[in-house]
Amino acid sequence: MSSILPPSTRVWWNQPLDRVEGTWIAIALIWCLAMFFMMPYWHIFGKQNLSNEAYRITAEAYSKKTQEMVDKFTVRTETELKVPVVRPPAGSDVYMIARLWQWWPILELEKGQAYRLHLSSMDYMHSFSLQPENLNIQVVPGYEGVYTITPTRAGKYSVVCNEFCGIGHHTMVSNLYVVEKGQGGAGDDSGKDNGEHKNERGEK
Ligand code: CUA
Repeated sequence: MSSILPPSTRVWWNQPLDRVEGTWIAIALIWCLAMFFMMPYWHIFGKQNLSNEAYRITAEAYSKKTQEMVDKFTVRTETELKVPVVRPPAGSDVYMIARLWQWWPILELEKGQAYRLHLSSMDYMHSFSLQPENLNIQVVPGYEGVYTITPTRAGKYSVVCNEFCGIGHHTMVSNLYVVEKGQGGAGDDSGKDNGEHKNERGEK
């Protein structure tokens, strides 16, 4: 009997279970349970699966909070779009907006300090992918995701949108800086900022 054709007997479900069928059900069940318990296991022992908080928020309220941080802590701007680079105090709440097709603003964080990173979208689904770290966070409109993060390595990181969000998706890239204590800020390279930036290997 094939599953394309109707069963030969109308009441087919009270026949005894075939041994092969039972074996496959058992294998599938054990595998499901293994995967289920691996999720908390990875979270606790594998440093994967972020623990986040999520709150409902409107785009207006979220952009207002972000704007307040930008007004207080901008240290310089980058590119011809004059994207603010923000250096909030160590340990504070930091905000990033995802929208078609830009990340805003650019954050400059201090190595070894814990921050509460807030992420929300102004329009559609985006995804916060931090390169070269293997970190992926879905950014959802109407929700504010909060992630407690502690950068452990100084350097220039790239933020890439990892969720297809339309014709400009591939241009939705930005930077994130992690600096050593006492470094970075306004005195770093604001004077010679012309939109060109070197990466860690010294290439432009
Ligand atoms: Cu935003 Cu893709």
